[in-house]
Amino acid sequence: MRHLLTLDDWTPDLIEATLELAADIKRAPDQYANAMQRRTLLMIFEKPSLRTRLSFETGMTRMGGHAIYYDTSTSPMGAGKETLHDTAKTFSRYVDIVMARLFKHSDIEELAQHASVPIINALTDLAHPCQILADLLTIREKKGDLRGLKLAYFGDSNNNVTHSLMIGCSMAGMNVAVGCPAGAEYAPQPEVVEIAQRWAKAAGTEVTVTSDAEEAAQAADVVYTDSWMSYHIPKDQLQERVELFTPYQVNEALMAAAGPEAIFMNCLPAMRGYEQTAGVIDGPQSVVFDQAENRLHAQNAVMLKLIEAATNQSA
Ligand code: CP
Ligand code: NVA
Repeated sequence: MRHLLTLDDWTPDLIEATLELAADIKRAPDQYANAMQRRTLLMIFEKPSLRTRLSFETGMTRMGGHAIYYDTSTSPMGAGKETLHDTAKTFSRYVDIVMARLFKHSDIEELAQHASVPIINALTDLAHPCQILADLLTIREKKGDLRGLKLAYFGDSNNNVTHSLMIGCSMAGMNVAVGCPAGAEYAPQPEVVEIAQRWAKAAGTEVTVTSDAEEAAQAADVVYTDSWMSYHIPKDQLQERVELFTPYQVNEALMAAAGPEAIFMNCLPAMRGYEQTAGVIDGPQSVVFDQAENRLHAQNAVMLKLIEAATNQSA
């Protein structure tokens, strides 16, 4: 069974084909109006969401299918009354495909291990692959061919979005520079750096991590940041994090170091005055709402690719 737990579960060719399909769905949505007819998506949420919930549910509606929102706080699984194993075996008897937003990456791996339908990671502590497919679609629209472009990421980097960006961009032939505080607590996980550097080596590009924000920003085509207060971070860490990450805030000076052609991205939700200034996110270089829209098209393509693979497998 093919799933999407992290981007490197897939090949660069499959990612490219998915982006092509996403672009086609966006261009000609009516051609896909029945593509999910009689199909049901289960959406499991352990954490909050605006984009992920709305884009997956709307995506199923637009393709003629149905989506079930399932909040684990009202589930036997969330109440500690049912194992992941039994949950996966049960939902596999009802639905065609599942997306899950969970705290622990090992939990989604366990679901996938016991499910007989495709599982999509809709954010775990380790990875957020759907976000990065939407981001790559957006970068392609704004900059054309992805190969050889440079993405610079700033801020909290021991982070799902950073990890998936490093892997996804390097698989797509892009250079990645991460600017973050020194030390393991806020830097990307070493295993992820290693995977991304392996892809970069194959593509002849670079993946670097530095505590020098200005150096990371040089000649970047894309400047990217994510929340300093991810969903799982306790509120009482705000002050400490503001002090730590302020040198990595995406502000007008950092955008100037990248250059006037650079686009600004944030997966959202965003806090103005924290990971970026209002001037940047609301300014002319920002593409954050195109990025948010593209979640819909990218995920529709992911679901079609996974259903296609599952159907071929059972044929
Ligand atoms: N970017 C993203 O995943 O947003 P939500 O948390 O609102 O789903
Ligand atoms: N890193 C963020 C991404 C939100 C979409 C979080 O985990 O909350």
